[in-house]
Amino acid sequence: MNIERTHDKLYLKEDYKNNPKEYFKFVKREIEKDFLTGGKKEYCNFKMLDVGCETGSFLTFIRRRYPEADLWGMDIMPELLEQLNAGQKNEEKPFHPLLANIADNATLPDEKFDLISMLGVISIFDDFRPVFTNLLRMLEENGRAYIFGIFNPENLDILIKSRPSGEKEDKWETGWNTFSIASIREYCKEMDVRCEFLPFELGIDIPKHADDPLRSWTLDMMDGKKLIVNGLQLVHHFYLLKIWK
Ligand SMILES: C[S@@+](CC[C@H](N)C(=O)[O-])C[C@H]1O[C@@H](n2cnc3c(N)ncnc32)[C@H](O)[C@@H]1O
Repeated sequence: MNIERTHDKLYLKEDYKNNPKEYFKFVKREIEKDFLTGGKKEYCNFKMLDVGCETGSFLTFIRRRYPEADLWGMDIMPELLEQLNAGQKNEEKPFHPLLANIADNATLPDEKFDLISMLGVISIFDDFRPVFTNLLRMLEENGRAYIFGIFNPENLDILIKSRPSGEKEDKWETGWNTFSIASIREYCKEMDVRCEFLPFELGIDIPKHADDPLRSWTLDMMDGKKLIVNGLQLVHHFYLLKIWK
C-alpha cells in the first residue's frame, strides 16, 4: 500500500493568518493559562517550535501577542516554508524555518524549546510513539508540548486511508488516523511524563466544501453542540493534549 499526504497543498492558497482557525484561539488560551500565566511580561521571552507550521499561520497568531518570543517553524513541505520565509522580510524577529520530518530523528535540530505546538499533524502518522519521543527530546526540562487533533475516547487505535473514487493507482491519502486516549496515557506513563486531554467544542458552523470531501464540516445537534464530520464518514473528537516532563 502506497501511503502519501497530498492534502496539505491547500495551505498554499488558504489565508489562516488573517482568518485564524478557531482552535488557534483555544490552544493559545490554554498555553497562556497554564504556561505563560496570563502573558505576564516576564514570560514573554519564550522559545517555541510549531511542528507542521505550514506557512506560519499559528506562529503569526502567537507573535501578534508575543512579539519578543523566539519562534521556530518546522515543516516537511519546502514550498510551505518558502511562503513562511517570504512573509518575514520586514519582521523585526523573523521565524526560524526548519525543513525536517518530525518522525525522523536524524532530520531534527539539536535545539531545545520551552514550548512545542503540533496542531492537526499527529493523525498523519501510523504510529504516534516515535513522533512523541522526538517531541519530548526537543522539550526543555520544564517545557510543555501542546498537541491538538482527533483522539479516540474509546479504547481503539484506528488507521484510516482513502483515495478518490475511480482512482486506479495504489495511492492512499493519510491524515485521519485516530489514536486512543488510553494508548497515549499508557505511552506517557512508560515515558514518565505527565499528560492531560482537554476536549474542544467548535462554536461556529463550517459549511461543506463541495469540491473536497476530506475537509471537515459541522452538523447541528439537538443539544446545540456541533458535530464535526467529513467525507470519510468520521465523527471527529477534537482534543488538546498537553504533555510535560
Ligand atoms: C493538516 S496540516 C496542519 C497545519 C497547521 N498546523 C494547522 O493546524 O492548521 C499538517 C502540516 O504538517 C506538515 N507535515 C506533514 N508531515 C510532516 C512531518 N513528517 N514532519 C513535519 N511536518 C509535517 C504538513 O506539510 C502540513 O503543513
